[in-house]
Amino acid sequence: MIINTELEQKGNQFPNAVVNVRQEVDTLYFTTENNIILELTVLRDSVIRFRYGTRGILEDDFSYAIDPENHIGYNYLELTENKNFYIITTAKLIIKIEKISLQTKILDIEGNLINEDEIGFHYEESFPLGGNIVKMSKRSHPGEAFYGLGDKPVHLNLRGKKVSNWATDSYAFGKDTDPIYKTVPFYIGLKDKRAYGIFFDNTFKSNFDFCHERLDVTSFWAPGGEMNYYFLYGPGMNEVVENYTHLTGKPELPPLWTLGFQQCKWSYYPESTVKGIARKFRDLKIPCDGIYLDIDYMEGFRCFTWNKEYFPDPKRMVQELLDDGFKTIVIIDPGIKIDPDYWVYKEALEKDYFCKRADGPYMIGKVWPGECAFPDYTNPEVREWWAGLFKELVGEIGVRGVWNDMNEPAVMEVPGKTFPDDVRHDYDGHPCSHRKAHNVYGTQMARATYEGVKKFVYPKRPLVITRSAYSGAQRYTSSWTGDNVATWEHLWIANNQVQRMCLSGMSFTGTDIGGFAEQPTGELFVRWIQLGVFHPFCRVHSSGHHGDQEPWSFDDEVTNITRKFIEMRYTLLPYLYTMFYEYATDGVPMLKPLVYYDQADVHTHYRTDEFIFGNNILVCPILEPNSKGRRMYLARGNWYDYWTNEVLEGGRELWVDADFDTIPMFVKAGSIIPRYPVQQFVGEKVIEELKLDVYFAEETIKSQVYEDANDGYDYKKGRYSLRSFKLTGKRNDLTIQQHKSGTYETEYDIIKLNLIGLPFVITSIKVDNVTYDLNNLDKKDKYLKLPKGFSVVHLIG
Ligand code: GLC
Repeated sequence: MIINTELEQKGNQFPNAVVNVRQEVDTLYFTTENNIILELTVLRDSVIRFRYGTRGILEDDFSYAIDPENHIGYNYLELTENKNFYIITTAKLIIKIEKISLQTKILDIEGNLINEDEIGFHYEESFPLGGNIVKMSKRSHPGEAFYGLGDKPVHLNLRGKKVSNWATDSYAFGKDTDPIYKTVPFYIGLKDKRAYGIFFDNTFKSNFDFCHERLDVTSFWAPGGEMNYYFLYGPGMNEVVENYTHLTGKPELPPLWTLGFQQCKWSYYPESTVKGIARKFRDLKIPCDGIYLDIDYMEGFRCFTWNKEYFPDPKRMVQELLDDGFKTIVIIDPGIKIDPDYWVYKEALEKDYFCKRADGPYMIGKVWPGECAFPDYTNPEVREWWAGLFKELVGEIGVRGVWNDMNEPAVMEVPGKTFPDDVRHDYDGHPCSHRKAHNVYGTQMARATYEGVKKFVYPKRPLVITRSAYSGAQRYTSSWTGDNVATWEHLWIANNQVQRMCLSGMSFTGTDIGGFAEQPTGELFVRWIQLGVFHPFCRVHSSGHHGDQEPWSFDDEVTNITRKFIEMRYTLLPYLYTMFYEYATDGVPMLKPLVYYDQADVHTHYRTDEFIFGNNILVCPILEPNSKGRRMYLARGNWYDYWTNEVLEGGRELWVDADFDTIPMFVKAGSIIPRYPVQQFVGEKVIEELKLDVYFAEETIKSQVYEDANDGYDYKKGRYSLRSFKLTGKRNDLTIQQHKSGTYETEYDIIKLNLIGLPFVITSIKVDNVTYDLNNLDKKDKYLKLPKGFSVVHLIG
């Protein structure tokens, strides 16, 4: 029995002695004398679910976050007991449950303590609201670090922070503003260089305290729902994140053009302006694939309508843009204008699809169109109807992507900027108040949009972008980080947020490059582009009230540097696409904070600025004005300076020069980086050869290149091309082996190796055991042209 008078006096209740234990296949039920139930499920050897019910009751088990396709599978589960504990052993973990308190200790199979309850589960009965305030406290250790939690604009390491999760429209948010748009109640703990994760799947306003109130305690709680969390073990951070994405789902591959450059503004209109912007990109030869229409394309901000004065023939315009390589993406908000003559409003009213207040009237709030009603996307029937609304926009007019905004949901001119708590939601047949549905509203909207766009864009692949999201949203949508500001501080925030989102299962994210509010200087715009081209979603957006924000809006130098970096992104498209493939198949974050890359190096635990783009390129943005370079930490290992090919040894801090037209970038020795030629848009050119930049290392390093038709679903039938390379470097020779899988035949026949850093002069080359005529080697640039199907190339010095 826990004696904690102070806490008990505050009204907390605690589990007491276990009186019953029951096992059902992979699940154990522990019931205490005071009728608290702990349901413990072994989902995988390293993924354990803890769920607590009070008064002997567990709620209906339903979650929007958990991927229904998530395959559970453990291979070993043993329950034993000693005098004080029940002991559950899986192939990777040992879990000890204290008999008198349900307090839990989790150890790895070698017996190292990974995580333990402090008080553990406790709760307060909440008479004003009904239900419980459910709480969990864990003991934290000196040096333990914490990461994750979605879009929080705070230091990457959350130690010392106290944050909450309530999706909030946050125009011009700042560093440490909390909460903002997204809700990802998942964090990664790093204790003694071993990583674990905790996903608190509770959609109420959840709270996390990482050693803020008490230096040795981490806690999380919510004013409703159940204490329902998943413990995900590593010990690698990569294993934790992969376990989390396995649980909450992975996206499908997007069309490759969505990884190209995107240009947006609030708002481009009329048609001649949109066309003018598109023309200018082509005239200035700045690659661009997507052009975005903000709310002004609509008739009085009514979703699924067009302002015919500005856009007399949208279908023709969209087609003409497409003929020039531009895909059109439009915004769609949840607020439906109350207008008895507006077909979307009428349909939803007739079908009774709008959210209502607890006592019956519709939930009415002001957004851009004035007074609006809001579809209840937590009702599957409403989602289906909503998906159908995209028929004309996508199926007939040819729009290729939809951008969902204001879906926190945002309401103007009211305290709290959202629905009142009493609004009712279907919650897929588990009716509840807005307190529970608020955080998932945006995701369910994006999900319905995704179903619609996917259906009508078929056989092509959809693009959906969302501002608000709950865990699991990555299955349907990409996202951006909302209304940031054109300041240097926001450049730091942007860098942090996208890394954090990548750790939180949502890699396909970007920021409004240049800043949404206010106007960047040319210098800030350049520095932001230099970072933004490494973000999985790469879009310039601005509110437009403060001036133009196109690559040519500053001066020629800015235009030229912007072009140079966007061109670099286009040459790296096969690399980026392979990153996405690894994310989509295994949940691998597309950007890796240094701590993820090398958690065994304690120097990485508090780093925020440097990150790894994909697996091999270390980037450190310039985050201050007037910089000629910066100090940064180079991760352990050997790295090639991207610009000079100088080899540097990592594991140390160093000064790196980075004038206005460059940023610190390093390529890991042993990498093979695939590249395409510069294109003005994806598919502009037939790719005639795949260039591989080969960075010599005296070791064995593996890498891969994923390609397919860049759109469509044939890849799911095996029509993809996955080249796996194994590079083995020795003092006097270099071997590269290739193994290809998948039945897709790439357009090119030639692979061109660009050999960088070879420490020897080549005297002979063998390709699949046949001697290669050295005269074919471009000696100056060290290019080696090979048939794409080679199995092994051996270079001898
Ligand atoms: C919101 C969005 C922003 C958009 C604007 C107008 O502020 O976050 O991206 O441009 O609304 O639709």
